[in-house]
Amino acid sequence: MDIVLSGIRSTGKLHLGNYFGALRNFIRMQEENNCYFFIADIHSLTTHPDPTMLHENVKNVLVDYLAAGIDPGKSVIYVQSDVPETAELYLYLNMHVGIGELMRTTSFKDKARQQLHIDRLNSEEGDVEREIFNENNKNSVNAGLLTYPVLMAADILIHRADKVPVGKDQEQHLEMTRKFARRFNNFYGVEYFKEPVAYNFGNELVKIPGLDGSGKMGKSEGNAIYLSDSPNEIEKKVKKALTDAGPRVPNSPKPDYIENLFTILRVVSTAEVVQHFEDKWNNCEIRYGDLKKQLAEDIIRVLSPIRERILEIERDDAYLRKVTMEGAEKARENTSKTIADIREIVGFKRF
Ligand code: TRP
Repeated sequence: MDIVLSGIRSTGKLHLGNYFGALRNFIRMQEENNCYFFIADIHSLTTHPDPTMLHENVKNVLVDYLAAGIDPGKSVIYVQSDVPETAELYLYLNMHVGIGELMRTTSFKDKARQQLHIDRLNSEEGDVEREIFNENNKNSVNAGLLTYPVLMAADILIHRADKVPVGKDQEQHLEMTRKFARRFNNFYGVEYFKEPVAYNFGNELVKIPGLDGSGKMGKSEGNAIYLSDSPNEIEKKVKKALTDAGPRVPNSPKPDYIENLFTILRVVSTAEVVQHFEDKWNNCEIRYGDLKKQLAEDIIRVLSPIRERILEIERDDAYLRKVTMEGAEKARENTSKTIADIREIVGFKRF
């Protein structure tokens, strides 16, 4: 069986975008693969190093994983910081990674631009590098953020995973993981690490947009419907979604904020319902009130069973402890073997 590994950073509760973009694929994969799903709490420290929120954030993701259908009887579920071998491998991998290649990573540049307050639209090639070294810029970028892709590579390589179900935004990180694996093998003259592939079920991977007409649904963007939202909260959020006076010309293209509502409708509703509203749009007869009512109803139908399980599981600390302890133990059976091999390959010897 193939080894599958994936994780989500614990920076808040999971939302509809995480569900259709990631979780639903995780759940399908657990039948036919040897799956490891973890909570990337060390990664969360690169941007959210708040000790008062850390545990709660890990708990949120753990509860959401379980409620959405990741089954600890089929998959190994663990917390990243419970498996110190990952951090050790990260340390060794770092010795074979160039600072330059890390600084060119898209995710790093985006986050660094934000932190250094470089205006995205007016920024030029070299701005990030220049501001990082600018002593007058009081905002610094931490080395953890720079080496984020190395830690991610360690997560994957420590299990010698074959497939990594991730969204489009993570493809560059996967590409780097393959490069680091190859480089390690070449440097030490071994065939130790496999080159993992980014995996999703064909083109079914949908990027769920936010309800405010802007980009994708995100935890920090304030445009998300959480798996734990009540029917009432869902209705309110959908009602507030941006619309307009409606099309005047038949078969008009849809503006982004309307297309976004249709994108969500397509994943939660039936083909007939979608067609019905497409026709209404095309005839200029669309009533956004009706569309939103339907959309809210269908989102609620998808999320209510998950929400019910969340409410149950989040009260059961004994269960959460059992799942994470057993998960860490199973993960470490694997990771401790890898790290013993790596120590030998790197050249450490006992006296
Ligand atoms: N970088 C991923 C994200 O932001 C989370 C992650 C960390 C991950 N380590 C991983 C995903 C290993 C897959 C495999 O979503």
